[in-house]
Amino acid sequence: MRINYTGKITTKIVQRMKIDGERISALTAYDYIIANMLDEIGIDIILVGDSLGNVFQGQETTIPVTVDEIIYHTKAVRRAVKRALLVVDMPFLSYQISIEDAIRNCGRVLKETGAEAVKIEGGKQILPTIKRLVEVGIPVMGHLGLTPQSIHKFGSYEVRGKVKAEAISILNDAKLLERAGVFSIVLEKIPAALAKKVTQSISIPTIGIGAGPYCDGQILVVYDMLGMFEDFKPKFVREYAQLSKIMKNAFKNYLKDVKLGNFPSKEESF
Ligand code: KIV
Repeated sequence: MRINYTGKITTKIVQRMKIDGERISALTAYDYIIANMLDEIGIDIILVGDSLGNVFQGQETTIPVTVDEIIYHTKAVRRAVKRALLVVDMPFLSYQISIEDAIRNCGRVLKETGAEAVKIEGGKQILPTIKRLVEVGIPVMGHLGLTPQSIHKFGSYEVRGKVKAEAISILNDAKLLERAGVFSIVLEKIPAALAKKVTQSISIPTIGIGAGPYCDGQILVVYDMLGMFEDFKPKFVREYAQLSKIMKNAFKNYLKDVKLGNFPSKEESF
């Protein structure tokens, strides 16, 4: 029987969506106001991504983001989110050092924020950690293809999986992650044909970003799709608004009004 997807979204519901052919919508959020809007309009998954390192903090990579920072942002997002599945990105080195460390950090994030799942990057090298996290009751979303926390290993933000050997390894990793118990997998910046193959080869949902139209769902960084982040514009981003223009215009008008003594007016004063 087909589910009505208006209720609370859980990891099980996300998996059900794949079976039903219901496309999964996901966006990132780092603050209360945006999370509130996303939840209100019915986005299925809200990810507190470590992309906040780039778009919120202005860092060159996601590597400096800390567990404390992720917790701070997730607490703000949590206050807004009632329906969406709330997933938290685990920062670099918060889950790679040892399984014990991973359980401690992921567990801390879930306990302190009220988020419902974690996302961690990587394939077969991270399998024992994923198995153990799932065993202790922490739902895990995988992340394959372009994994930004490994940027210094790869040396560029180029599309991954264009070469046959890398494509095979992404496909194998997806199967291994499924077996290890992840409830879904983000596929970042890989060819559409490879994303299609991965999506057809596993029974858990794939969520694409720069991975073409054949994934079970799509995710974008919210500031990118709002046209707020101007440092660079990846080809796979569709700008649904040009907010930076609108915002700069508002700031300019405020600046002018203050300089000219036009703000505040009598009506805006006590
Ligand atoms: O950090 C992030 O926002 C992400 C998405 C790009 C999937 O990992």
